[in-house]
Amino acid sequence: MYKQLIVIMSFLFSLSISAQDIKLNAPNKDGGKPLMQALSERKSSREFQDKELPVTVLSDLLWAANGFNRAANRTAPTANDRQEIELYVTLESGVYWYDAKNLLLKLIKSGDYRKSTGSQDFVADAALNVIFVADMNKASSREYAYTDCGFIAQNIYLFAASENLGSVTRGWYDKDVLAKLLDLPSHQEVLLTQTVGYTK
Ligand SMILES: Cc1cc2nc3c(=O)[nH]c(=O)nc-3n(C[C@H](O)[C@H](O)[C@H](O)COP(=O)(O)O)c2cc1C
Repeated sequence: MYKQLIVIMSFLFSLSISAQDIKLNAPNKDGGKPLMQALSERKSSREFQDKELPVTVLSDLLWAANGFNRAANRTAPTANDRQEIELYVTLESGVYWYDAKNLLLKLIKSGDYRKSTGSQDFVADAALNVIFVADMNKASSREYAYTDCGFIAQNIYLFAASENLGSVTRGWYDKDVLAKLLDLPSHQEVLLTQTVGYTK
């Protein structure tokens, strides 16, 4: 009886953990402003409202950033097709890994860690902070890993402009704090961060 109770409780506990992953939608590829308009509105913003993004917007944003637009390739190019960049995000509810294949935000840690993602005050308010992590075992070189981050960052900027959201890409963060937050092994490195949200 006691054993059965433990099994049932463990099952319920595992359900409650997986329930905190966020299932993303398939991207809406018909939306958005024309490219030339998005380019003309692209800019960095540094004042954000503390207001969540709907899952539909989050889904489209992450797909635009680095989702799969073909069977095995993505919206952003990578040198020698190494696909070494993984995106992690902080939302008010937790820290997540973007599982682009399965359209899922996989919970890494629950709790509001937005403040830890940078050295500027606005990171604590903005709906989303993206953390760019390079797997140096996969990357062609350090230079190319940084280059590959740039394409993803610009995809995010253009999506933000298209959706009337604010964004700023950021190099001002504490690498060690983020490595600890994400529990990264030594061959995985944070190379860039980017904030997205509703502006004030
Ligand atoms: C690699 C890189 C790192 C940056 N780091 C920061 C940062 O840590 N904090 C910040 O407020 N802006 C940062 N920026 C944004 C630049 O300051 C911004 O792009 C520049 O001032 C030009 O403004 P614009 O983006 O509106 O054209 C960074 C931009 C790049 C490309």
